[in-house]
Amino acid sequence: MITVNTVNEIVSQVRHWKREGQTIGLVPTMGYLHEGHASLIQRARRENDRVIVSIFVNPIQFGPTEDLASYPRDFARDSQVCRELGTDLIFYPQPDEMYDADFCTYVDMDVLTTQLCGKSRPTHFRGVLTVVSKLFHIACPDRAYFGEKDAQQLAVIRRMVRDLNFDLEVVGCPIVREADGLAKSSRNTYLNETERKAALVLSRSIEAGKKLLAAGEKDAARIVAAMRAVIEAEPLARIDYVELVDGDSLQPVSTVAGTVLAAVAVYIGTTRLIDNTGFVETEGTK
Ligand code: PAF
Repeated sequence: MITVNTVNEIVSQVRHWKREGQTIGLVPTMGYLHEGHASLIQRARRENDRVIVSIFVNPIQFGPTEDLASYPRDFARDSQVCRELGTDLIFYPQPDEMYDADFCTYVDMDVLTTQLCGKSRPTHFRGVLTVVSKLFHIACPDRAYFGEKDAQQLAVIRRMVRDLNFDLEVVGCPIVREADGLAKSSRNTYLNETERKAALVLSRSIEAGKKLLAAGEKDAARIVAAMRAVIEAEPLARIDYVELVDGDSLQPVSTVAGTVLAAVAVYIGTTRLIDNTGFVETEGTK
């Protein structure tokens, strides 16, 4: 495994692999790797000749009052994890390698980015799409791997790839959870013991919605109300959003028909966590 810090180095390594006809899987990350990231790297390992993991805490996807400075970082541990999982190359640039002082070109999107997380994080997806575009140009992957926990991120990246004709496959990988149901996230490390317990309201609210649907309820407003009630019963929790939306357009639905995305964002103390799942309307529901 090699680690490179500059765009020139990774580009020349990628050109070499491409000349040899090797396929490349890219796993973009912000580091502090957990089992969710590991599942992406493992899948990339199975499906490609070469695996690149990028580790870059991308400053332009954080809002001015967000956690850029405190975002957890541990390159030595990440590097060991990548090595154990068979990564060929870690791309670990510093911000000034990715963004020149006079950087002024961004990739942005309408509609999909104004929903869900976009409401409280208005510049977030512009930052994500810009850095992901840069990584796609730099690493030229055949496939790029993203977690389904960030369902909106996955949807906007898929749309960007389609709209801007990027020649690669976007692979979404299932959410990895702790044994008690909490979705794995680098931000879980911010939680103290009490908050960690309180954080279970995210997965519990999703389960409550699922149960109601299985019992025959298809009205989105009633399902959302039941999900909100679970979260509102927890004093440490403050809802950012609880929504049932169409998985492609991310627009709210009024009835569950086919599959819809149930998505929640909740502050536990000062930590903002997200979770989601697909709600599937099954035969026999009313
Ligand atoms: O999901 C993440 O970790 C980041 O948003 C990503 C895709 C690596 C872009 O910085």
